[in-house]
Amino acid sequence: MITLVPLADIAPDRVELLLDAAFGEDRHGRTAYKIRQGMPVVAEMSFAAIEDEQLLGTIQAWPAAISGHDGHDPVTLVGPVAVMPAAQGKGIGQALMTKLLEAADAGASDAMVMIGDPEYYGRFFGFTAEATGGWDVPGPVERHRLLARIRRAGGVRAQGLLGPDPDFASHAAAA
Ligand SMILES: CC(C)(COP(=O)(O)OP(=O)(O)OC[C@H]1O[C@@H](n2cnc3c(N)ncnc32)[C@H](O)[C@@H]1OP(=O)(O)O)[C@@H](O)C(=O)NCCC(=O)NCCS
Repeated sequence: MITLVPLADIAPDRVELLLDAAFGEDRHGRTAYKIRQGMPVVAEMSFAAIEDEQLLGTIQAWPAAISGHDGHDPVTLVGPVAVMPAAQGKGIGQALMTKLLEAADAGASDAMVMIGDPEYYGRFFGFTAEATGGWDVPGPVERHRLLARIRRAGGVRAQGLLGPDPDFASHAAAA
């Protein structure tokens, strides 16, 4: 039976091996890694799927922000979502996303962004590229794959740079 556990329960090197298997070892140059550079994982929205001690999938979330000239709006960067190639197509990706969204909707985040396939994240989870067209990103991105799921009253700014959350970075530096 597949169970979902906090990602913090899993040794980090096992998570890295899974991500290499799902995305390849050159994944670190991806734009999503630049968006969350220097940020710690958000533990309450990051999970692992395990079965018989085997790590089959992970999902992670990170502090980020849309920064403009007059301030910034904090958001949560979702991803990577990764499922071992041999275990794909069995609902593990959907179970991990559902778990993350439950935590988000219980108060962890009202504004989430991710880079992913709209055919998957739109169809099942309500992410769209509608709000993201005016955002700059710190690297190449296919615009239709820059997705958001915003539940915040008033939304988030339409123009700005998506990157690490400056508040979070200054808090971390002060700690
Ligand atoms: C994308 C991924 C997380 C999905 O997880 P999964 O456990 O394989 O998917 P699930 O079993 O939950 O969902 C299966 C359904 O989603 C669909 N689906 C899976 N990946 C899809 C994609 N990239 N685009 C569109 N649909 C997709 C399947 O066709 C299937 O639909 P069906 O039920 O109508 O047949 C997983 O395949 C994976 O790790 N891929 C490699 C890494 C990656 O691309 N991650 C996403 C970017 S962050």
